[in-house]
Amino acid sequence: MTVNTKNDRDFIKTADEAVDMYHSKREELIPILMRVNQQLGYIPKEAMEHISSRMHIPQSHLYSVASFYHMFSTQETGRHIIKFCESAPCHVAGGREVFEALKEALSLEPGDTTEDGKWTLMTTSCLGVCAVGPVMMVDEDIYGNISPNQIPDILAKYE
Ligand code: FES
Repeated sequence: MTVNTKNDRDFIKTADEAVDMYHSKREELIPILMRVNQQLGYIPKEAMEHISSRMHIPQSHLYSVASFYHMFSTQETGRHIIKFCESAPCHVAGGREVFEALKEALSLEPGDTTEDGKWTLMTTSCLGVCAVGPVMMVDEDIYGNISPNQIPDILAKYE
């Protein structure tokens, strides 16, 4: 549960701006979705409905595109998004213990957002820096070789 500061009208306006920016071209669907995701932090269902209707693309197709790419979210997210690598190399490097510490520090399960809207916790597959596992991303920042006792300091950077 997060604090929602935008309403349906904002969602539709943002979707309109993105569709207009790319002249409703179907081949520009990814940049259109990216723009909405960047502006709102995720792609709300109201924006999906509007894009679907303006571009004559079935919503099912929009959702399948959005779920295919990691960079899109269709769920409202917190101001900071943590993506924790759950692939095997990070797992065997101690990722499980770090992830437990992270869940405990945030009182969150993967996919959830804190009540104050600050944090969303997600898991991800390999981030491509396995040599420094365990690895997690906070927004655009990558942290490697993390141990459970580093979690409070990492989170504190985003106060
Ligand atoms: S397995 Fe975690 S970054 Fe590759």
